[in-house]
Amino acid sequence: AVQKRVEELLEGMSPAEKAGQLTQYFYFKLPTGAEAEPALGLDVTEQPRAVEAALRRGEAGSLLFVTDPAEINRLQRLAIEGNPHGIPVLFGFDVIHGLRTIFPVPIAMAASWDPETIERGQAVAAREARAVGIHWAFAPMVDIARDPRWGRIVEGAGEDPYLGSVVAAAQVRGFQGGADGEVGADGVIAGPKHFGGYGAARGGRDYDEVDLSDHELWNVYFPPFKAAVEAGAGNIMTAYMDLNGVPATGNHWLFTEVLRDTWGFDGFVVSDANAVRNLATRGFARDLADAGARAVTAGVDLEMAITDPAYAHLPAAVADGAVSQEVVDARVRKILAAKVRLGLFDNPYVDEARAREILAEPAHREVARVAAQRSAVLLRNEGDLLPLRPESSIAVLGPLADAKRDTLGPWVFDFDLDETVTVLDGLRAAAPNVTYAPGIPVGQRTFPSMFDMFGDNAPSDPPGFDADAAFAEAVATATAADVAVVVLGEWQNMIGEAASRSSLDLPGRQLDLLEAVVATGTPTVLLVLNGRPLDLRWAAENVPAILDIWYPGTQGGNAVADLLFGVVSPSGKLPFTWPRTVGQVPMTYAHTRSHEPANQGRRYWDEQSTPLFPFGHGLSYARFAYSDLVVSDSAVTVTVTNESDREAAEVVQLYLHQRHGSAARPVRELKGFERVSLPARSSRSVTFTLGPEHRTYWNAAERDWVRDASVFDVWVGGSSTAELTGTFEVHD
Ligand code: IFM
Repeated sequence: AVQKRVEELLEGMSPAEKAGQLTQYFYFKLPTGAEAEPALGLDVTEQPRAVEAALRRGEAGSLLFVTDPAEINRLQRLAIEGNPHGIPVLFGFDVIHGLRTIFPVPIAMAASWDPETIERGQAVAAREARAVGIHWAFAPMVDIARDPRWGRIVEGAGEDPYLGSVVAAAQVRGFQGGADGEVGADGVIAGPKHFGGYGAARGGRDYDEVDLSDHELWNVYFPPFKAAVEAGAGNIMTAYMDLNGVPATGNHWLFTEVLRDTWGFDGFVVSDANAVRNLATRGFARDLADAGARAVTAGVDLEMAITDPAYAHLPAAVADGAVSQEVVDARVRKILAAKVRLGLFDNPYVDEARAREILAEPAHREVARVAAQRSAVLLRNEGDLLPLRPESSIAVLGPLADAKRDTLGPWVFDFDLDETVTVLDGLRAAAPNVTYAPGIPVGQRTFPSMFDMFGDNAPSDPPGFDADAAFAEAVATATAADVAVVVLGEWQNMIGEAASRSSLDLPGRQLDLLEAVVATGTPTVLLVLNGRPLDLRWAAENVPAILDIWYPGTQGGNAVADLLFGVVSPSGKLPFTWPRTVGQVPMTYAHTRSHEPANQGRRYWDEQSTPLFPFGHGLSYARFAYSDLVVSDSAVTVTVTNESDREAAEVVQLYLHQRHGSAARPVRELKGFERVSLPARSSRSVTFTLGPEHRTYWNAAERDWVRDASVFDVWVGGSSTAELTGTFEVHD
């Protein structure tokens, strides 16, 4: 039935209407007073008018950046009434970690190592998005990131292809919500991005070129995309950069040979914003028309355009033979099919009253609170300083402790600051004796952000702010308290798209503040608000307790209070290797063995070669012991015991190493994990099933998937440095 409807529509469409269906326009609602956005070459008064004119002509297939249900209905009506075939618009948006209810940032959600929480979180995000009229999320970002200078590390699941794949699939299921990869009534199309290799930008500089061997592409960077496709993702987004010399958005191999022909992807492909026209900027396409022709031929169905779509030239390109009609028709079919499948022709408008109700649902906030609890990672807890007693006098310090916007993190637009619970709010609600001093200025951002145009700038200090007096007040506040809770990290707009850094330092005078507070002798807890690892070498030696709370979202402060006071025990685990210093990056636990003697290889003269905190690390208030490891080539079983008097969850991790074979394999690779909740003083047996797929890898010399007869080491435990080990052998 879908196909029949699509063919009927296609038959009556003019070349310009077809090109229009393949075009997605930004529809910007910028804050009043904004006149132009020079960086985007955008006239913000003219642009919405031009888009509305295109809608009326039936030449705009999709819009992005509209989230107001009344506005969505108005634009939808324009399109349907203007379009001779009544084809509705597909509304897409960056629903990255929530729409109104903001969840912890994606790297934090990955740190929960909890596919159920991740799926539930994205289902809430999808429900809110669909209620306002959004049909499709430009998420999840499934790019592997091994260089934390890259600002978009915050949007993904970190460095590991196995964890990344599990997280990607959970996110797709959560967003789409339907059975068998379909989109449910409360779901949205998921759009994993940015295919492929975007996370390996040279030097961590966003959009810079990417050179990845066959070996890294297939073994590391592609698996999360494949997992997302297998989970039924309806869309894939291209990447901006050149992959091995060929711009990703014009890369036929990526979008046709790998994505469609090899993995059987059946949805539609969208370009990243302006990425089609950038094919000319990158010295690949001759001009805008050539850029459109090359992208559509490569397999890009929909062009996301800020201004001047390249796909407007497609009718001419077909007429002069540069692009075949079959290719254009095949692309249009994909877009129409997505609309038919979503039921948009029958039900194009949204109920605005229902949207308001859904956005306000308390149950959504509860899911966000649990997600923030589960994603926090306890990096250090010397002398069991944590949990704290709520009766203690607690000095909360640092401007990020009470920064609502920063509590939410980057890539959110429809949040409600009034309901955002900061760390200070959360602690004040849970404990009677909390004092607060920011200590240092709030205006610490070091560069302008591309999101400034949404009025999303960092807060500034009040006129006459006396930095020295504020610092002294914070130290005095710490001195007078039983315990100091110092909240430090990066302002949210220092991370995200186009927000790479050459340093991993705590910006501004934050380290000075921490040192001064620790020097008072008051026991100190450091809470880190971040989306990338920061240089915490001093803290890791001098601050007894460090809890990474990430950008924890709407309910962040409440979740932090739950954790600090022991209502729940921290259970998150690092989804990346935490380097000591920026000089060590890129760094991953899954490297190959290099040298004999070992201490002569993989080293710097002036820095240790180990990370500050290993991949998979994360402490608990409970103590877990691992025993009774039983290993075979088809299963690994272990007993996990909670030796403490409190209930807690632990993420049991399984790592494998192949000793010899037709390629050198990493010293350890994650091949399984399970989050288990254990009552006090209880044990549980956990079994991981092993199949041939756990031993299969892409051999770059043979240009094929291989499995070797070999001996395999197995480790099971609570991090990538787990010590309980066994072996098995495979003969074929
Ligand atoms: O979805 C994003 C993408 O990740 C980066 N460029 C802009 C797109 C739309 O906002």
